[in-house]
Amino acid sequence: METERFITSSLNKKDIEFDGSLRPTAFTSFPGQVKVKERLQLFIDASKKREDTLGHILLSGPPGLGKTTLAYIIANERGTKIKTSSGPVIEKPGDLAGLLSSLEKGDVLFIDEIHRLNTVVEEYLYSAMEDFFIDIMVEQGPGARAIRLNLEHFTLIGATTRSGLLSSPLRSRFALSCRLDYYYPEDLQKIIFRSAKILKIKIDDEGALEIARRSRGTPRIANHLLSWSRDYAQVRANGKIDREVASAALEMFDIDKDGLDEMDNRILEALVHKFGGRPVGIKTLAVAVGEEEGTIEEVYEPFLIQEGYIQRTPQGRIVTKKTLDRLGLDSLPEVKRRKSADDRQMKFL
Ligand SMILES: Nc1ncnc2c1ncn2[C@@H]1O[C@H](COP(=O)(O)OP(=O)(O)OP(=O)(O)O)[C@@H](O)[C@H]1O
Ligand SMILES: [Mg+2]
Repeated sequence: METERFITSSLNKKDIEFDGSLRPTAFTSFPGQVKVKERLQLFIDASKKREDTLGHILLSGPPGLGKTTLAYIIANERGTKIKTSSGPVIEKPGDLAGLLSSLEKGDVLFIDEIHRLNTVVEEYLYSAMEDFFIDIMVEQGPGARAIRLNLEHFTLIGATTRSGLLSSPLRSRFALSCRLDYYYPEDLQKIIFRSAKILKIKIDDEGALEIARRSRGTPRIANHLLSWSRDYAQVRANGKIDREVASAALEMFDIDKDGLDEMDNRILEALVHKFGGRPVGIKTLAVAVGEEEGTIEEVYEPFLIQEGYIQRTPQGRIVTKKTLDRLGLDSLPEVKRRKSADDRQMKFL
């Protein structure tokens, strides 16, 4: 389904360009995430006052909520340059050394998907973050020796959609850790207006709110649904997006009035109708709905938990009353227990 493309991290070139064209460059044009912005602003102001390099910052949260955007804003507001890379691209300690030695005092190094750094590279990063040096091994065999590379005081900004996968030594080396949450519809409405202005799209208050409500709390989805609604308005209406046009356009995307998409619904229905509401492990759920475990944990589950449709218990995921109400049920259906993938796996443990 189309929307899935917008909510996973694997974007194609066109998506990346579209994201980039709509990226705010200052906190004042970045609606929402009030607490995160306040903390970052204070952190930046303090570092400016002391004329100090900004401490390392970790940004975490589901895809499309503004981690990359914030990294650029931070560099911009602190008045520094920014270099970007990403966890899987830095394969060897030498790659990291090359990146770090190219930084000047105060520069920001942004490492996206930092949870995907390999462990060897990660260990080199520890001394770089803490004491601004790395010991690089040169030569192999008996002639092997370490050369110390002193680094300028830089700021590392790490971004991750899976903060749970970060090792604690790495996590503890960040001076500030910020978790982004899904946006309220009113904030998404502001984001939609701003994007509409940039893209020269005609839209009214209600049209923007309708798109906002159906964007899974995610600015990237809001921007893509705006662009889709514009296409729809131009072909099927008079070019202006109002509530009716937005609603009709979004019907075609299988996103319902609560902002849940097809996969969200599939997950809820599986938990209720296939498993009768008993706790379900991630492996079993992934097989039942035909989606990867990582994507469920990273993209779908956090939204469904925040919206109060499911809860995570030590035994697995369970549904709440809100889900039963949504599916029009008074109680959980009786479902015969079949051997699940989890049960089968238990045997081998
Ligand atoms: N608060 C905001 N205000 C305006 N636009 C926003 C905001 N947050 C995100 N966006 C827009 O949403 C799109 C996605 O944001 P961004 O690329 O920063 O997300 P991300 O968290 O880095 O996602 P991923 O985990 O996939 O890398 C961008 O076009 C960005 O401009
Ligand atoms: Mg990003």
